[in-house]
Amino acid sequence: MKMTRRQFIGQTAMAAGALNATSLIADGAAAGVVPLMVSTHVTGKPANEAARVVLRAGGSPLDAVEQGLWVSENSVRDTSVGIGGTPNSDGAVQLDACIMEGRGYGAGSVAAIEDILHPISVARRVMEQTPHVMLVGAGARKFALEQGFEKVELLTEERRQAWLRWRESRAREKAATPRSHDTIALLVLGDNGDLAGGCTTSGVAYKTPGRVGDSPIIGSGLYVDNEVGAAGATGTGENIMRYCGSFMVVENMRQGLHPRDACIETVRRIARQDPLGLDVDVHFVAVDKSGRHGAAGSNQRFVYSVTTEESSEVMHGAGAEVE
Ligand code: GLY
Repeated sequence: MKMTRRQFIGQTAMAAGALNATSLIADGAAAGVVPLMVSTHVTGKPANEAARVVLRAGGSPLDAVEQGLWVSENSVRDTSVGIGGTPNSDGAVQLDACIMEGRGYGAGSVAAIEDILHPISVARRVMEQTPHVMLVGAGARKFALEQGFEKVELLTEERRQAWLRWRESRAREKAATPRSHDTIALLVLGDNGDLAGGCTTSGVAYKTPGRVGDSPIIGSGLYVDNEVGAAGATGTGENIMRYCGSFMVVENMRQGLHPRDACIETVRRIARQDPLGLDVDVHFVAVDKSGRHGAAGSNQRFVYSVTTEESSEVMHGAGAEVE
């Protein structure tokens, strides 16, 4: 159901109120915090906290991103990421992931990779061990196995049963594909001012085999630039990748916007241009180089996780209005 502009403004105000009540950094005037870990959804919080442990032990922001995301990829309870992720329409779990460092613009990515537990680590190997940025499908899997990654069954019995139920109901009732987009994007700002980010997902539930969303696409699911800041996305990939969403957030910060406003402006622009309006299902998190953070989405219930040296919290993102 499309929300009217007036309805949405009202709910945005509620979200902003909630943000102010719980935020470490309530608005654009506040100073930033370093080090800082920011990720999408409540499910990002354990990843943030694992990233903090890596930084405390002297690891780089890139190490923190990779090892933080292992927590999500390892969790069988997270049905949108890694093992226990929701399969495609054929019942195969195909994973997408990318990683990027803000210094030097290094980037690596894998898409539609099967049988590998940690696609974020394969993405890092693509970045560090090849002249390429992106490997897909069977080629990405072959590369991972050659690099020593083990073959792992990613489809849990629980997800297999859910897929069988979906297949039956689709045959019977032409049931719609459920929305399932709890992609994890994790952004880390280290003490030395270096930024890194990563994004990992099993993508849209019961997707067409071979379908790739925004998450492994540099500039769509993730963008990191040490000069400015970093941004990551979650939601319906098709509605993020057609607008280079995360790159747009970073460019909005480059123009001087606070991370929260940069996310709002991006959601607003996508919703203005897209035929779906505020039904686009796009959400962003962002960090700037001074350690300020923010988030916004087309759904005002979007939450994100923020972890500093002293605290770890789940916060409300802001909404956006469309003119
Ligand atoms: N944002 C995740 C996907 O659409 O695949």
